[in-house]
Amino acid sequence: MTSKTTVEHVCAHCHHFNVWPLGKHASFPCGACGRLYRQLGSNRVLDTGEVREGFRLPSKAASAPKAEPPKLPVNLAPILAQLDAQIGLRNVKTQVMELTQLCLIQQARTKAGLGNANVSKHLVFTGAPGTGKTTVARIIGEIYHRIGLTRLPKVVETDRAGMVAAYVGQTALKTTERITEAMGGILFIDEAYSLHEQGNGFGKEAIDTLLKAMEDHRGDLCVIVAGYPDEMTRFIRSNPGLESRFNSFLHFDNYTASELCSILKKLAADSDYELEDKAMPLLQAHFSEELRRQGAQFSNGRYARNLFEKMITSQALRLGRHTGELSSRSLKAVNTEDVSQALRAICGKPYPACR
Ligand SMILES: Nc1ncnc2c1ncn2[C@@H]1O[C@H](COP(=O)(O)OP(=O)(O)OP(=O)(O)O)[C@@H](O)[C@H]1O
Ligand SMILES: [Mg+2]
Repeated sequence: MTSKTTVEHVCAHCHHFNVWPLGKHASFPCGACGRLYRQLGSNRVLDTGEVREGFRLPSKAASAPKAEPPKLPVNLAPILAQLDAQIGLRNVKTQVMELTQLCLIQQARTKAGLGNANVSKHLVFTGAPGTGKTTVARIIGEIYHRIGLTRLPKVVETDRAGMVAAYVGQTALKTTERITEAMGGILFIDEAYSLHEQGNGFGKEAIDTLLKAMEDHRGDLCVIVAGYPDEMTRFIRSNPGLESRFNSFLHFDNYTASELCSILKKLAADSDYELEDKAMPLLQAHFSEELRRQGAQFSNGRYARNLFEKMITSQALRLGRHTGELSSRSLKAVNTEDVSQALRAICGKPYPACR
């Protein structure tokens, strides 16, 4: 096997393709514009920002390719449409769009030979359960990949149980396994504050292992941490290493009763069911009441999904009592009776007494 003896590098300033002899920590000038680069390894080159003595760098305006507004990668539109199709989440959609645009402009700036502001791609998601954090993390996994921020479109989902072990010395191994799985994509840590606040103290070992990996694999590991707002703020502030890496917060609001009705309708439509319009006021009233009654414990979209499953079970039981052929229309229709049955089932007692 022959070992590598040269390093190839495209100059960030003038885009000249350079081939230099391998020499760790040695500095080499760009053959065209004289900008100095230092080799950190066979695949890593540092732009020193300096220019070889006696060489006058051509002005950026002359050397840089014309800065055109960045075009959206062609395959980005469908995934942005998927984000847009989520019910509600207005703030989140705006922030994700802004972040995407910022990253695209940074890439265009790099191409034009300008400095890169090194926007952090690590994120903190705050919000109550079922507000769409995992759904949006998966969408961001796709967006990041399609705009070239990550190598792979994968999102590895984990939580405290997936990172912390019960015995001394095992936590670092378990956390490293999750990190290795996520390499090239996104590691999504749900209820991340529990690493700091709960249990046997091994959570700190998990945080230290994570921070070290984020440093060692900068550029190839993106981390999203998620959980309740207050707990997450305490978690991030508990450790300067976390605070310096996680500075983009996306807050997921609780859904309103109307949005929960729309989520139900969407869940139904996605599975070829149709909710009877007459049932909607019943659902709206139920969601308003549950939002008020359960407060921070309310599980939002997850609650809507559970209710939907109960509704289609009620429909199936009703249709099961039917004799004769079932039309496609009746197989699709979820009526007020099914909805009332489902509300009784989800409350565990007769509805509306459950209120
Ligand atoms: N905006 C939305 N539009 C449509 N469906 C949604 C939306 N938000 C959530 N859901 C539904 O609610 C379910 C829960 O969403 P998700 O798992 O993304 O929430 P989460 O915030 O990660 O919850 P948790 O904190 O409990 O992990 C999903 O399966 C999805 O069907
Ligand atoms: Mg989740």
